[in-house]
Amino acid sequence: MLFDKLTYVERRRILRERIGNGIILLFGNNDSPVNYPSNGYKFRQDSSFLYFFGQHREGLVGVIDADEGKEWLIGNDIDIEDIVWFGQVDSVADMAQQSGVANSAPMSQLAVLVEKARQQGRRIHFLPPYRHDLMIQLMDLTGIHPSKQREAASLELIKAVIDQRAVKSQGEVEEIERACAIGYEMHTTAMRMCAPGVTEQEIAGRISGIASSKGCIVSFPSILSMHGEIMHGYPSPRPLEAGRLMLCDCGAETNENYCSDNTRTSPISGKFTQRQKDIYQIVVDCHDHALTLARPGVKWWDVHFGVARLMTERLKELGLMRGDTDEAVAAGAHAMFFPHGLGHMMGMDVHDMEGLGQIYVGFDDEVRPNLDQFGTNCLRCGRRLQEGWVMTDEPGIYFIPALIDEWRATGHCKEFLNFDLLETYKDFGGIRLENDILITHDGCRILGEKIIPYKIKDVEEFMLPF
Ligand code: GLY
Ligand code: MN
Ligand code: MN
Repeated sequence: MLFDKLTYVERRRILRERIGNGIILLFGNNDSPVNYPSNGYKFRQDSSFLYFFGQHREGLVGVIDADEGKEWLIGNDIDIEDIVWFGQVDSVADMAQQSGVANSAPMSQLAVLVEKARQQGRRIHFLPPYRHDLMIQLMDLTGIHPSKQREAASLELIKAVIDQRAVKSQGEVEEIERACAIGYEMHTTAMRMCAPGVTEQEIAGRISGIASSKGCIVSFPSILSMHGEIMHGYPSPRPLEAGRLMLCDCGAETNENYCSDNTRTSPISGKFTQRQKDIYQIVVDCHDHALTLARPGVKWWDVHFGVARLMTERLKELGLMRGDTDEAVAAGAHAMFFPHGLGHMMGMDVHDMEGLGQIYVGFDDEVRPNLDQFGTNCLRCGRRLQEGWVMTDEPGIYFIPALIDEWRATGHCKEFLNFDLLETYKDFGGIRLENDILITHDGCRILGEKIIPYKIKDVEEFMLPF
């Protein structure tokens, strides 16, 4: 376990007192098969279960009686057959004791506990499930069909879990920084390997290997492509081409399931062309501008749009945009270049808690999402920042040929865009820079002891052959 027992006891106490009544079910994950049951994906525990119970074993469920304060860790002990194949492991009772949970019981008891609560007419609080095996288990327990389970999930529980997990303790920040250290090695390896003739897949394979060699996994499938303008451009067998850019967006997830998420965009020839420098410097300045804006009490919405305004100003200087900056941003014209949000919460999930519902993670009664405007509808967060949150700062500028064609054909935002000049950028690709930032009491700081080079001079120096 990452923390001592008292940390988990205290986290559950806070949750139990806030929920106040009913029973709380927190499902751990089960093994997940790749192509037949005994050939599984690397096990990944559910992040909320791990946050409250600290246990990494598959097949566990935590139950908290919010009225009486009684707690159970439920799961089946392994039998002699399993011991033959996998070796001896702790019993469920041992794990309950380690997590400070007073009671343990076999899985058959879960239905008994839930049925009793149902008969008493008590609330059964559960989080929105995202794995289909657990949806079936939940249907058996509650009678709620999987298609109705997300809406039947407990809003009180969702909001309570988000509030607790959003604010990272010092120990959690240290674990994220361990993930950042692995991310540093992954990114600097990719930058050193980046050269004409090397394939995207060779580099992506090597950087995944760095995570695996430390017993970790990548925090999401690595994005690595000369086509940075494709948001999820997965590595292809294509050799890198001189003169183009390589966008690499990857991170590590530690054994305790805390993540890093960084993006760098490197010149494949080792030096940026002037045209690349002009765009790259805007992205650097947008990234750095966000660092000056982000602090407790400031809406992430305002940080995003502050960056969008700076980007628009600078793209106007290059002649790619025109008109009044505020009007252009209000119309969403900047989304031609920057069609995603500035960043998202990060922690045990790389998009932290996204499975609980982005609307609850990133928005509130004060800041509602705008789902009607292209680009703005991708924001993962808008609400006021709090000390202890970990966010990503990830502006990007992309030249997406299909989007240029589409907006040109429809005339969308034509008063703010220079389509003739945009035509000449269709072979450019895209640039994104991403760092993970901690919101401190009076500002923010980039996480990671060593920052992966991102300023033009530093990148070019770093990529010089040894
Ligand atoms: N890799 C997805 C992201 O940066 O959010
Ligand atoms: Mn990323
Ligand atoms: Mn990210």
